Amino acid sequence: MQKKTLSDIAIQGKRVLMRVDFNVPLDEEKTITDDKRIVEALPSIKAVLENGGRLILMSHLGRPKGKPTPGLSLAPVAARLSRLLEIPVIMASDCIGTEVMQQVLAMQDGEVIMLENLRFHPEEEANDPHFARELASLGEIYVNDAFGTAHRAHASTEGITHYVQTAVAGYLIEKELRYLGKALHHPERPFIAILGGSKISGKIDVLENLFNKVDALLIGGAMIFTFFRAQGMATGKSLVEDNKLELALNLMEKAKEKNVRLLLPTDVVVAQEITAGANCQKVSAEAIPEGMIGADIGPETRERYRQEILNAQTVLWNGPMGIFEIDCFAEGTFAIAKAMAEATGSGATTIIGGGDSAAAVAKAGLSGEMTHISTGGGASLEFLEGKKLPGIAALND
Ligand code: 3PG
Repeated sequence: MQKKTLSDIAIQGKRVLMRVDFNVPLDEEKTITDDKRIVEALPSIKAVLENGGRLILMSHLGRPKGKPTPGLSLAPVAARLSRLLEIPVIMASDCIGTEVMQQVLAMQDGEVIMLENLRFHPEEEANDPHFARELASLGEIYVNDAFGTAHRAHASTEGITHYVQTAVAGYLIEKELRYLGKALHHPERPFIAILGGSKISGKIDVLENLFNKVDALLIGGAMIFTFFRAQGMATGKSLVEDNKLELALNLMEKAKEKNVRLLLPTDVVVAQEITAGANCQKVSAEAIPEGMIGADIGPETRERYRQEILNAQTVLWNGPMGIFEIDCFAEGTFAIAKAMAEATGSGATTIIGGGDSAAAVAKAGLSGEMTHISTGGGASLEFLEGKKLPGIAALND
């Protein structure tokens, strides 16, 4: 990695201002339902504390649109972190201001403060320079370990780096770049990518970038129906992007030019409606009945994709194969998760690109069986698109 990391700097007695991505899911009682993002930040957090630093953590939570929103306070996150670290985590009432400044100046070595949700201030997302400078003044060293927010050029990720001398990456960012970067730039082959999701329009850049990297691309999710329709096949009432038919054909052509095998399902699961009690049927991709909606890949496709996964040395997955929240449309997604777990067991590198696919792997109970599960949804997607992530680009080389 070209960026300085926590290992390159002296921390003892210093106020370390660390941007983390603690944007975790909460249920109605404000209980954290998945603390992966907190757990994955622990190596950096512990490194600061064990080396005698004074740790000031900052994060956003949800999208409060620039207004203090009690339901999106980071207090439950501070409580969970305190439990994980087995030391108190002081919850600040805001992320800037005189009171916060006094609190951080009174800190002792080895103490932790969690600042309140950065997005309670509209200046955070606007990347306001005054706000960035005020945040910067809280610490002596800036560490960014918020991989999940690295694609956002916000005050706490990008703006702040203009007002600190030392801006380094944390260990989570280092780990994410190691796995995602190796897959994209030096993969062990065969390298295959499995791409799901509802719309081609959301995945064009990933597809185009992956055409230059992979040996095969396995497609699932509702975007398959746009590919089907583009080839003149009947798609019933399935989701089709009518204005992307030509694009679908172009993508198929491009795959051929690049010598990439582009695999589409040969059978699908359809139903009359997308509800928990739906009457699901397996049909050939070429015989989707009128009035039916496709919502998962079929058993023949699952087996074909499984074989592809087992023959690969590097497997990258982004986007579910169907509507896995509903049981009868979940089997395709779970079959991919299972095949990837099998591949990990045989020595392949298996990488989950975050977001929905990470949630699906967790639902399948297979999170421990993957080589790497990214903590970034949007961030890992932009990385796979080949884009520069501003939160990382801004750090010291
Ligand atoms: C995420 O959950 O993908 C990140 O925390 C970024 O959140 P955002 O999409 O609200 O910027």
